[in-house]
Amino acid sequence: MCGIIGYKGNKNAAEFILSGLSMLEYRGYDSWGVAIKKDNKISTFKKIGKISDRTKKDEIATGTIGMGHTRWATHGGITHENAHPHTNENGNIAIVHNGIIENYQKLKKSLKEKGHEFLSETDTEVIAHLIEEYEKDFDFFEAFKKALNDIEGSFAIVCMHKDKNELICARRDSPMVVGVNHKSKEYFVASDVPAFLEHTRDVIFMDDNEIVVINDKPTFYNLLNGKKVEKKEQHITWDIAQAKKGDFEHFMLKEIKEQKETLKNAISQKDEIIENIANKINSGFGVFFVASGTSLNAAKSAAYMFSKHAKKHVNVVDASEFEYYKDFLTPKTLMITISQSGETADVLSAVKTAKKIGVEIISIVNVMGSSLERQSNAALLMNAGPEICVVATKTYTSQLAILHLIVYAVSGRLKRGKEWLKYAADHVDELTNQSEITKLENLALRLKDCHHMYIIGRGLSYPTALEAALKIKEVSYIHAEAFAGGSLKHGPLALIEKGTPLIVFAPKDETFNQTITNTIEAKARGAFIIGVSPEDNEAFDFHINVPDLNGTSPIANIIPIQVFAYYLAVLKGLDPDMPRNLAKSVTVK
Ligand code: AGP
Ligand code: GLU
Repeated sequence: MCGIIGYKGNKNAAEFILSGLSMLEYRGYDSWGVAIKKDNKISTFKKIGKISDRTKKDEIATGTIGMGHTRWATHGGITHENAHPHTNENGNIAIVHNGIIENYQKLKKSLKEKGHEFLSETDTEVIAHLIEEYEKDFDFFEAFKKALNDIEGSFAIVCMHKDKNELICARRDSPMVVGVNHKSKEYFVASDVPAFLEHTRDVIFMDDNEIVVINDKPTFYNLLNGKKVEKKEQHITWDIAQAKKGDFEHFMLKEIKEQKETLKNAISQKDEIIENIANKINSGFGVFFVASGTSLNAAKSAAYMFSKHAKKHVNVVDASEFEYYKDFLTPKTLMITISQSGETADVLSAVKTAKKIGVEIISIVNVMGSSLERQSNAALLMNAGPEICVVATKTYTSQLAILHLIVYAVSGRLKRGKEWLKYAADHVDELTNQSEITKLENLALRLKDCHHMYIIGRGLSYPTALEAALKIKEVSYIHAEAFAGGSLKHGPLALIEKGTPLIVFAPKDETFNQTITNTIEAKARGAFIIGVSPEDNEAFDFHINVPDLNGTSPIANIIPIQVFAYYLAVLKGLDPDMPRNLAKSVTVK
């Protein structure tokens, strides 16, 4: 996954690289490193751990051109040697890389036979040696191009040569965007816009198989044939304040609290865009929703909404399993992908599979210019602003809101759907006022040391339970598992013992009575019941009051659990923004 950044300008590159890396830390935080070129020398600095743990002793060289990397290891352990940047033996060529070189073993073997010596276990290091090898017969640009054409797999690469006053970068199946500030003659290249948002909002999104050489200005080339490519600049509307913590200790709580605004942004989609998607769903021959993680939970919620409010069957498939469903597809199938980042490899791979069959792809994405947006026939932006915390919160409720609009448009009642959502948006603020937060913090204090938690919901609340379990697991490392309320008695009830926490989603809809029945069955076996409901009930040991929102209840119901999960992590001394082993965009399969 990793975050990469490059800077070419007239100021001290290290400053831009370090601040950019801290904005990209959500993409990987095993180790970090920086390479700076000055005169005809490249100096590198690498360190295990998070960039936010950098100390004053970590001195970075000065120079006006450089690159940085924050790693999420795929090949080779978390060691100093494996941290990026990587160089060839004599340090002439430095590389940072996001992605996986699938044929690296073969390339490494043949390079070793030619006398190259390797310092790391990474796949990345072969690139530096391969360029060096080609440089024996070709100029640097040609050597770079040839080396990358030998590579199988995915890459976003920034490369420097000690004798060249330029950055040379390329991408294939890993994100990369160029930031331009023509006025100050400063240029950036990064995995994601927040890395340089403070310095420019003018960007050029790179496409697959493109090279950019950043010298006096960026020039783009096709990686396969070396021909120049004309690119368009785009202006980003994201605000740097959205990408900074401000007065909050963590992005997670900041982003949870932003939901009133992000919901409103999600709702203010143009009617014709929503209606156009609704028409495609109505005329499509089979609809597949495809997503991963939290976005998948939003899609699962949509399936219940389609059934209840639009009387329409839709299929929901985990993107990583989509390959095994492909025989159901025809050119008349409609695929709707949902993704915050628009860079999730499993989702992009599903899109590739579906496109081969001629399936039309519509995407709901948050990140403008992302691979998914560009690979889809049509895309709808969530407008939630940057979500930096690795754990998705505000984008989940934005996804739910947009899906709700689509469902209502499918049944010809878009206006009614919008009214419901506006009502929901007006009520979410009360879920994160100080007294609610304190209450949830106290609950977290009471439960932070437990090892297991279970969550139930029926109907529309079942996906909410799945999402609640994912939130708790990700940030607190407590085993949390969700079940459909009715399935508890088919086995999981055996797990309940005295004091086992059971979170129950009990909105005042047709599921209420049966959910309470399931709750009482667990309570009779000693469970400690946390009821999330607009109404208190004698079955609850702890009541989390939520507004009665009918069909939009999943939006309100998840918010207190997001807050609860946040405090579980904080009270356990964990960093909720960067849970262990995870990264924000999962760009590997
Ligand atoms: C959410 O909290 C997780 N970090 C993760 O499950 C995430 O939702 C998943 O990787 C999908 O990401 P996407 O929405 O960017 O495609
Ligand atoms: N494969 C490289 C490594 O392990 C980059 C990892 C990544 O982009 O996730 O260092």
